[in-house]
Amino acid sequence: MNKLFTLRKPIHFISLSSTNDYALKQIKTENVIEGTVFIADFQSKGKGQSNNYWESEPAKNLLISVVLCPKFLHPSQQFDLNKVISLALYDFTKDFIKDESVSIKWPNDIYINNKKVGGILIENIISGNLFEYAVVGIGININQSVFRSNAPNPISLKNITGKTYDLNECYMVLADFLEIRYSQLILGQQNKIHSDYLNSLLYYNTLSNFRKNEEIFSGTITGVNEFGKLLIKNNDNIIEDFDFKEVEFLLNHSF
Ligand code: BTN
Repeated sequence: MNKLFTLRKPIHFISLSSTNDYALKQIKTENVIEGTVFIADFQSKGKGQSNNYWESEPAKNLLISVVLCPKFLHPSQQFDLNKVISLALYDFTKDFIKDESVSIKWPNDIYINNKKVGGILIENIISGNLFEYAVVGIGININQSVFRSNAPNPISLKNITGKTYDLNECYMVLADFLEIRYSQLILGQQNKIHSDYLNSLLYYNTLSNFRKNEEIFSGTITGVNEFGKLLIKNNDNIIEDFDFKEVEFLLNHSF
């Protein structure tokens, strides 16, 4: 496909507190060009979703932040950006693990079976109606064998295949998928993006168990609305929407 967008040559650091924090600081102090990429071998304060720590041993995994300026999106369309970044990580993971075990766990975790191989933390800078910057933080577990933090279910590509990967080559593959998927967004291919996202979603159209507060219920994921809320049809055939953290997946451990 024609790429309308290319990433710049990455700026590499041996160690940073967080590539996202570094990118945000740069944006505040100078003019950062769209497509700028910061990569670190190690982060002392790697940020995960919900203020969690993102664990990564030095020089074992991909830790990157990409600066985007999605001014063509209205801030209310933020979830479209989330979809294309999730799809790029999904495409990347599928490139190494060529089977059905790879999926996107809503909203933006990359799973192999019931374990998390990659995560995304997008931090947006919005002024009024203008989507000025998105700092797209991406962590993908590549060569780390043992995870020590209390992250619930981490896994790496190496855990699955037993192989050790060249991180520069991995980055090149990821960059290609990011360019392709972000180009789709620039081209306004929202329908394709949406159907690819749904078709990659863990437990899509599958009766599954969820927990909201203390209550366990079964239901079927029927979609995701334009604001990124998860749509679950319950046993009474009523479709309810859920915000991030409002509902927890009870992962199927029968793999
Ligand atoms: C998650 O919890 O799923 C999101 C993890 C995002 C981690 C990446 S690593 C590179 C970038 N810099 C950070 O501090 N966090 C993101």
